[in-house]
Parts: sequence; C-alpha cells; structure tokens
Amino acid sequence: TEHLYQYENFWYHPSYGLEGIMSIQQHFKPRSDDILLITSPKCGTTWLKALIFTIMNRTRYDFSAHPLLHSSPHDCVPFLELNLFRFNPIVDLECLPSPRLFASHIPFTSLPKSVLTSTCRIVYTCRNPNDVLVSLWHFMTKLRDKELQPFSLQEAFDLFSKGVSPFGPFWDHVLGYWKASQKFPNQMLFLKYEDLKNEPFVYVKRLAEFLGKPFSIEEEGQGMVHETLKLCSFENMSNLEVNKNGTYRAGVKNNVFYRQGKVGDWKNHLTREMIEKLDSLITEKFDGSGIFFKISP
Ligand code: A3P
Repeated sequence: TEHLYQYENFWYHPSYGLEGIMSIQQHFKPRSDDILLITSPKCGTTWLKALIFTIMNRTRYDFSAHPLLHSSPHDCVPFLELNLFRFNPIVDLECLPSPRLFASHIPFTSLPKSVLTSTCRIVYTCRNPNDVLVSLWHFMTKLRDKELQPFSLQEAFDLFSKGVSPFGPFWDHVLGYWKASQKFPNQMLFLKYEDLKNEPFVYVKRLAEFLGKPFSIEEEGQGMVHETLKLCSFENMSNLEVNKNGTYRAGVKNNVFYRQGKVGDWKNHLTREMIEKLDSLITEKFDGSGIFFKISP
C-alpha cells in the first residue's frame, strides 16, 4: 500500500493497474458485442469469469471435457489492465473472435467514453465491504514479500476506511457503476456476490439473459443451469489441480484466488470497533443510493 498512487481519484499499484488503465484509455477499441466483467478486487471476479465463460461457450464444450477443468478462469477471461495492456500498450485485440470476453477493475469515471457509446455489455459485481476487506487482507498477506513486516488487519482496515485500497475508494467504485447501471440498464447488469451465493439459480439465469444467451426450457430440463453452477462452484474450482498448483504469474499460484468463498467471514476477523466504524461508513456512503449491504446484526 505504501506503493499506491492516486490517478483520477482512484488508488493504484503502479505496475499492477495504473499503467494498464492509462493504456486502456488510450488504446482500447470496444467491439459492439464485447462482454466486460468489471469488479472491485475480491468481489467475486474469479467466480464471475468462470460463470460468464461457461454461459457463453456452453454449446461448444461438453461439461466432461470443459476448458475450465484444466485452465484457470483468469486465462479464459483476461484482465485488460493486468494482463493485456500491462505488457503491451498497443496489444492487438482485433484478432480475437467475437464475442470477446474481458475483465477489468477500471473505475466507471475512467472508462473510455467509446465503451459507453458502443453496445458492448458490462457485468459489474460488488460484494459487502466487510467481506471485501477481510478477503483483500488475506490476499495481500499471501502476496506480500516474506522479508517485509506482516501487514496487520488493523493497517489494512485503516487504509481501506480512508479509501486507500487497490482500485479504491471501494464505495466510489461501487457507486460509480451502480448509478451508471440505473442509467444504462440494457448495457449494464449490476450484481452482488451475496445474491449469487443465496440464490444462484435466479441470478445465473438473469446473467445468461443479460448476456443474450438465456437458458431455454430444454436446456433447463437437461440440467444445464445446475451443471454450470456446479462446474463454477467454489468447491469444484478450488479443488481442481490447475487452480491448486497452477501458476498465475511468476511466484504467484492460482490458489491465491480461492480462500473460503463464503458470505460473512468478516465476523471471524473484525473487532467490534472495526465493525462499528464500517457500519457507519457503509451508512454514510450508501444511504439513499438504493444499494443495501447487510451489516452487523
Ligand atoms: P474469500 O477471500 O472471502 O474466500 P476475486 O476473484 O474478485 O479476486 O475474489 C476472491 C474471492 O472470491 C475470495 O473470497 C474467493 O475465495 C472467492 N471465490 C473464488 N472463486 C469462487 C467461486 N467459484 N465461488 C465463490 N467464491 C469464489
């Protein structure tokens, strides 16, 4: 976090974010049938990548020989800023067949205007801030150089509360897309991790409809929705060899993206004081917006 820089009101790690965001702004050319998954880190990106990839390709692959059984969702749906534009600001994405599937953590206010004037679809996924903080802290702890002092939850909490987190302030990220999704309902689908966890059938069907690939009655009868959810479930994905021991990037294994996959683990980590402070922050930031995050009982 000592290395985060602010650009257009959001915080970035210079090489894991900022460079790529600037290149997207200059060089990304959306195609009318592109699908962009946009999230704030730790909101369920890996899960949504798997679900979107599976929904879009379901007539191409058999579930018993599916690419996700041996490839990470991060290889099937690359991040624009972290994978594609980070290494080559003029990366050629024109050669990719339609529909192209990309992911990004780019804040709404930094999104190139051409994305909004094209008809490409955006799926945005958010998660309750308490779980995001706990998930982010575990993630950063795993990635941290072992030579450095451990990063305490208190430090992570203090920074997160001030809005300092990768691609943060978290609430501004969420609110940017929430407001946009109300303005452009046909172009943007706004989802919550908790809703997907609680009512997976409902939300996966909604996701497929939004992507222009609704499940037909026959497909539902054949158990296609069920198979999609089963393939992409935390239990299945986190136990696949590729996700346990495969490599994400030098020195980082794919398994950093799988921890618990549950709602409410914050109760096991946050102190009473932290919970109270987050409660009041959530109220302050989201009240009146129409977004509700279930907070302490
Ligand atoms: P936890 O740390 O709370 O377990 P992201 O993919 O945006 O980086 O988010 C990572 C979070 O999503 C982690 O949360 C991770 O365990 C969870 N996750 C990863 N794959 C999942 C899946 N298939 N289903 C549900 N949650 C998943």
